[in-house]
Amino acid sequence: MALHGKVALLTGASMGIGEAIASSLVQAGANVILFSRSEDKLRQLKDKLAVNGDTKVTYRAVDVGNYEEVDAAVKSSIQEVGHIDILINNAGLAIGAPKIFSDLNPSDIMTMNNTNINGYMFMTHSVLNHSMMNRKAGTILNITSITGLEVPPFPGEAVYHANKACQEAFTNALRNELSGTDIRVLVLRPGVVATNFHSLRVGHDKKMYDEFIEGYEPLIADDIAQGAIYMLQQPLNISVKALDIVPSAQRSINVFDRTWNERRE
Ligand SMILES: NC(=O)c1ccc[n+]([C@@H]2O[C@H](COP(=O)([O-])OP(=O)(O)OC[C@H]3O[C@@H](n4cnc5c(N)ncnc54)[C@H](OP(=O)(O)O)[C@@H]3O)[C@@H](O)[C@H]2O)c1
Repeated sequence: MALHGKVALLTGASMGIGEAIASSLVQAGANVILFSRSEDKLRQLKDKLAVNGDTKVTYRAVDVGNYEEVDAAVKSSIQEVGHIDILINNAGLAIGAPKIFSDLNPSDIMTMNNTNINGYMFMTHSVLNHSMMNRKAGTILNITSITGLEVPPFPGEAVYHANKACQEAFTNALRNELSGTDIRVLVLRPGVVATNFHSLRVGHDKKMYDEFIEGYEPLIADDIAQGAIYMLQQPLNISVKALDIVPSAQRSINVFDRTWNERRE
């Protein structure tokens, strides 16, 4: 599917994987609607992306865990751009590691559940109702994680892992329910990507972050963006239903080859 002239709504667009996907979409000629909470970052990104092309870039400062905010922002975006061809649910976070579940602060549990579960469902509900179901067409791409399939080996991942497993189940159920329409539902599962995510996950503890990525080369956000563009560019009759993109040194959820860098010295 050619992306030129398509309209893509992307959550978590202010940095990391979302920012990289937004940039790749604009390069492919798509119009983009950027959602996240940080209005300043979105404004700066819009100015950066809108510099060269003839594509339209717009944004809304939204907490994806708040249905009223989501629905109002989706409606006003559709008034501005007409309709939505592609929804990319990407906004997400992990907090509290390495605390085990019983030690987690309940407000952190609620923040993760609200962003990672309600956020994906609220966005999808609103976009389906205000645009995709009217046209019975579109693509929904959920950025989940390889941790959605297997429990990560580190302490502090109970809620995040459960959230990502829920996103996987939601994706599979939605794909079935949307039989009879031309709406495709896909997942992209990143492994370790060097973004703010892993620093936030450990409360910006530099020692823990450095230990986590010791000895190997994590992905960068653009590696994931290239995968997302590949999935979205497939013709309508092809669904790359799921794509795992991991650093080669991340042999499985449990095995990290920490001699990777040594072999490249
Ligand atoms: N990095 C990895 O290794 C990795 C691996 C597997 C899966 N993932 C998944 O990839 C996705 C993106 O992660 P990333 O690495 O790019 O993380 P990131 O750099 O920390 O970016 C997270 C994005 O989510 C937004 N966000 C967070 N809470 C939000 C809320 N309540 N409402 C709206 N936006 C919100 C943030 O923007 P604001 O703060 O401006 O709201 C930011 O744009 C997440 O779903 C994550 O689970 C990441």
